[in-house]
Amino acid sequence: MPKRSNGTFGKPLNTKPSSSVGTPRKLRSGRDPKTNAYRLIHGHADRWKDLYVDRLGDFLLIQSPQPLTDPQLEAAIKWKGTLKIKGVYYKKLNRMVQRSNTTSASPRIIMGLEAPDEFEVMENGLKYRLSLKQGYSTGLFLDMRENRQRILSNHIEPGFAVFNLPPGTATVLNAFSYTCSFSVCAARTGATTINLDLSRKYLDWGRENFLLNQVNPKDHDFIYGDALEWMKRLAKRGERHDLVILDPPTFSRSKQSGVFLAKRDYSSLTKAAAPLVRNGGMLLACCNAAGLSNAKFREEVRRGIRGSGRKIVEAFSAIQPPDFPVTKTEPAYLKASWLRLD
Ligand SMILES: C[S@@+](CC[C@H](N)C(=O)[O-])C[C@H]1O[C@@H](n2cnc3c(N)ncnc32)[C@H](O)[C@@H]1O
Repeated sequence: MPKRSNGTFGKPLNTKPSSSVGTPRKLRSGRDPKTNAYRLIHGHADRWKDLYVDRLGDFLLIQSPQPLTDPQLEAAIKWKGTLKIKGVYYKKLNRMVQRSNTTSASPRIIMGLEAPDEFEVMENGLKYRLSLKQGYSTGLFLDMRENRQRILSNHIEPGFAVFNLPPGTATVLNAFSYTCSFSVCAARTGATTINLDLSRKYLDWGRENFLLNQVNPKDHDFIYGDALEWMKRLAKRGERHDLVILDPPTFSRSKQSGVFLAKRDYSSLTKAAAPLVRNGGMLLACCNAAGLSNAKFREEVRRGIRGSGRKIVEAFSAIQPPDFPVTKTEPAYLKASWLRLD
């Protein structure tokens, strides 16, 4: 049995307020001087059904499945003025992202100045490189801000640290690392990171994010390849890490391990990752598949860990940050479980 009365691991995802990095009001008004990338409008919860607006530094990114209506455009003009935004982009919300090519998936400018090909935003005092010209994703998943902060501050909740060893000695395996934002936070605490991704472009982008934050990427590993395949290989070598991060896409296909479906395969993924966590180390298991309920996700994660012969001794389930509010109409989609393993 976990020591921490299950943290929130055995309860519904949104029953416990997370140790918030900033109140929504603060974030939304842009008055947190350390963060200028956040969700401004989150659909129904903000009384704008099907409308999602992100502030990305000097730019706004508006997403909707439909072309913008006049009231939405008027509101965008107002937000642009209030937040002193340089340019406003629109992207059609597409649930079939993997079928879109880069150009058709990229947002298009609808107001003001075009963004440079690459620009920087700030989050919790760290810098990240973003682009509105590289397809569907911009380079930073804003809904993970609080989990990044948990790594950066080595604080999950009172009495529950990410790393329980002297600063600078931890090692982190970040599978599905994308642009390595989790690793940037870990590296800033002095940890050494290994980043695994099936995209060379994203790993290079990750190296740039390291440099932006005065961390030498040469002191870290960036491995191009299939995460499942590599985790098996690393486990065979006897590697153990203080933190292993799993944040796979909902769907992926690789030559080595074929199709990965988060909904179907999360327990095998956890089973492959658990042996890489040192005794007393942490597994961060994340999933944004809306079709996988939180209860089912936790069941799958537990099953994988049990199957690997490991035990959860401390657990915490993070909720969506305040700028991604959860309502009955738009239930939580993000699942992130912090699990200390023995
Ligand atoms: C949801 S993103 C990860 C987001 C990241 N953890 C973050 O917070 O910035 C998924 C990433 O997994 C990568 N990916 C997809 N299939 C993969 C596979 N089989 N092995 C390794 N990486 C994979 C994609 O290239 C993408 O960068």
